[in-house]
Amino acid sequence: MLIRPRRNRKNEVIRSMVRESHLSAANLIAPLFVIDGKDQMISIKSMPGYFRLSVDHLVAEAKELYELGVKTVALFPAINDSLKTPDAREAYNDSGLNARAIRAIKEALPDMMIMGDVALDPYSSDGHDGLVDPKTGEILNDATLEILARQAICEARAGVDIIGPSDMMDGRVSYLRQALDQEGFKNTLIMSYTAKYASAFYGPFRDALDSAPKKGDKKTYQMDPANSSEALREAALDEQEGADILMVKPGLAYLDIIHQLKQNFSLPIAAYNVSGEYAMVKAAAQNGWIDHDKVVMETLTCFRRAGADVILTYHAKEAAKILLDQ
Ligand code: PBG
Repeated sequence: MLIRPRRNRKNEVIRSMVRESHLSAANLIAPLFVIDGKDQMISIKSMPGYFRLSVDHLVAEAKELYELGVKTVALFPAINDSLKTPDAREAYNDSGLNARAIRAIKEALPDMMIMGDVALDPYSSDGHDGLVDPKTGEILNDATLEILARQAICEARAGVDIIGPSDMMDGRVSYLRQALDQEGFKNTLIMSYTAKYASAFYGPFRDALDSAPKKGDKKTYQMDPANSSEALREAALDEQEGADILMVKPGLAYLDIIHQLKQNFSLPIAAYNVSGEYAMVKAAAQNGWIDHDKVVMETLTCFRRAGADVILTYHAKEAAKILLDQ
């Protein structure tokens, strides 16, 4: 036998010499849930080990992440039900929870990057990412853009570095780019949720924010999990519209989409390792059915292999700690 592939696997020195994909804390973004109040850490039942944090705890968590090398956080505010309205006006309240949380982190950690989500669902009494026509139930694309732009500018004013439109309205990247530029935020990045699928893997996130749609589903704006050409079409549009980074969401069942975007576009690619994926790993690990740390590191490394430059993951802190110990 002349050819023995096992020679390149014979010990850890050669294995690490020829390893193709590497994971570092610099690739990771930690999503964090924020609530009002003081000294609050409320656990999320379907996301073991994850909490909704009041701003004081949020800042402490951000500090810990920063010291571990995770230098970008994505904020998701869990808004009081009494502030949710059909027009989602709380989304652009300069003294609202989201803006206060952004300012508090920036004050404590000026070099930490903050990603602000842009979509109406945390603020909408309908639980949809866009405005809902009260008569027909239709999600109104163009009227929503105006609110999204106000939300993005509110976040940029508070100090956000990256705007993450997760709403899937048509034309929103160029609309947001123009609105940000007009207000002087030309260096604020847009990480577009380019290929965001209508997925059941978002269940635990909707528990965390209590943001599930009151009626219907999100299938008229989020993509059909059966499609991949559509992801290429969305990516081409986002590139033309000025996106800085293209994101695929969810992650694990969509590695082929990550790979296709990486092959076809020169923009950096992000993957969102979503709440339901996190919940599955935690549940199996709690039962002793899988090795938690090994599964986490394998999962994140495979995102890198598939083509993700950036990974949004609830495992960010755990992974950064494991990387330090290695
Ligand atoms: C909503 C939004 C969702 C997530 C991020 N932003 C849920 C949804 O579309 O219903 C899901 C994240 C996760 O499951 O981890 N704009």
